Amino acid sequence: MNLNDVISDLKSLLEYERDEGVGGVAVSPEVLAGVGTGASSVVHGGAVAQSIPSQDFGSAQPAKVVPHAEQVPIADDSLSRIAAEVAACSLCPLHGTRTNTVPGQGSPNPEIVFVGEGPGADEDEQGLAFVGKAGHLLTRMIEAMGLTRDDVFICNIVKCRPPENRTPELSEMNACLPYLKRQIGLLQPKVVVALGATALTGLVEMPKGMGITRARGTWLRFAGIDLMPTFHPAYLLRNPNVKKYVWEDLQAVLRRLDKPIPEVKKR
Ligand code: URA
Ligand code: SF4
Repeated sequence: MNLNDVISDLKSLLEYERDEGVGGVAVSPEVLAGVGTGASSVVHGGAVAQSIPSQDFGSAQPAKVVPHAEQVPIADDSLSRIAAEVAACSLCPLHGTRTNTVPGQGSPNPEIVFVGEGPGADEDEQGLAFVGKAGHLLTRMIEAMGLTRDDVFICNIVKCRPPENRTPELSEMNACLPYLKRQIGLLQPKVVVALGATALTGLVEMPKGMGITRARGTWLRFAGIDLMPTFHPAYLLRNPNVKKYVWEDLQAVLRRLDKPIPEVKKR
């Protein structure tokens, strides 16, 4: 990494922090921009060091169009049918304390599906995924990718709010997982982004000692789909200094989708 890259990374981090209202930052992004010779505002999307390509990702294209997901949609299934089943679901104890079920929402034909941990208070209230504070940050992450929430699908590994926002149990995630798998089978995204340690543990059997900190930025697989783990936006709200890693991970997703990497906006 050369000096300009370092300055550029620092600058984008400061911009994030300023936008998030983090106080006590002694230097503004604009001041930093003037440091060094011609530091650009572009965060360079260099290869993520620990990124490993998934086994069947190659340049050769299959002759036939094959579904991305292993999960082949079952006859007559639909997102609204899944949502209706979820609304009536009592497969795990979380049904007892929910106000509304939160099946997830977004594009019916997305390239990316974001999977979080579980609904919080705002989500439980509205029946929509990621509409609270963490959701606001997720929106900004999606917009930084040059996309909108309507371009992607946003959901959670459990569809009902765990009481007091506790972490869902593995048994609850496993009870709920068939709904997510059916959604993925219908949506056929090219990439699933797992937001945070809980979603990751629910989606992929992780080797011992492999937490989100080590797994993030590496390509894994879920239901036949490329899966990128990254930090949860709620974790970013508490630890803004890791946002630059999330941005690296999201850039890796854009590269995999052959999408341009937008400049980090000057504000
Ligand atoms: N956190 C999550 O994991 N999911 C939401 O929908 C909101 C906050
Ligand atoms: Fe059913 Fe999932 Fe809600 Fe549990 S969290 S009751 S499995 S919809």
